[in-house]
Amino acid sequence: MEIIILPSKEDVYKEASERIISLVNRLHNAVLGLATGRTMLGVYEVLLDAYRKGRVDFSSVVTVNLDEYLGLSPEDPLSFHHYMHEHFFNHVNIKKENQLIPDPLPGDVEKECEDYEKAINRRGGIDLQLLGVGKDGHIGFNEPSSSLQARTRVKTLTDETLKDNFGSTEGPRFAITMGIGTIMEAKEIVLVAVGEEKADAISRAVEGPVTASCPASALQLHPIAKVIIDTAAARLLKRKDYYMWVWEHKKQVEKPHLLYKKKRDES
Ligand code: GLP
Repeated sequence: MEIIILPSKEDVYKEASERIISLVNRLHNAVLGLATGRTMLGVYEVLLDAYRKGRVDFSSVVTVNLDEYLGLSPEDPLSFHHYMHEHFFNHVNIKKENQLIPDPLPGDVEKECEDYEKAINRRGGIDLQLLGVGKDGHIGFNEPSSSLQARTRVKTLTDETLKDNFGSTEGPRFAITMGIGTIMEAKEIVLVAVGEEKADAISRAVEGPVTASCPASALQLHPIAKVIIDTAAARLLKRKDYYMWVWEHKKQVEKPHLLYKKKRDES
């Protein structure tokens, strides 16, 4: 895991967005796994700004959303369809047929989940999966106790998640979500978290054991997982100084042989 701790949430949004921009610019037909939630609003804002400035072109991009509530119409302001259109799709040039989100009103739920997996595979799999994290450590809607190998399926949301996402409004209790097994097949994963309220989930995800009690901890088993957080979300990390040193010395860390070569040449 690469742990990137940055001074402010704006830095976090920028760092995560730049990774997406650089992938889209170098890979034709990139498949982006997208997420929703308050945190992602900051990421989408930076991406829109880059798009408006002509720094990125999404015309060949395929997007695959992590999850969607069951039982809402796509126009419902609470739905992730609505969220994605409002905050991203309506403002960029991603083709309609390349915007994949689970159907919130499927005739056959099991088939919808199977078809979603097939659709991802048909596009060649996810190149970069963007993730937020719930306070309870969930990724997508894989709540604590979710199988670490699960595929796309229906999950029941916990009371904590319902409260976080809907406050006192009554929200849908069920959602279709990519499973942790599906997420782990993405070639690269970028998890973004900001604020003190995520500090506990981040500490368990990064430094705790790999456990279904904290679904985000599964990322410890992914070969290219990046956790981009602000200092508030990093507050409970025991090895914070180490992660910061590695990030500050990234160039040397990636090419340590050059450092030793320089030393040898000097002596
Ligand atoms: C929802 C989404 C998750 C997201 C989480 C955190 O539950 N299904 O994908 O990570 O919210 O959202 P926020 O950024 O609002 O804290």
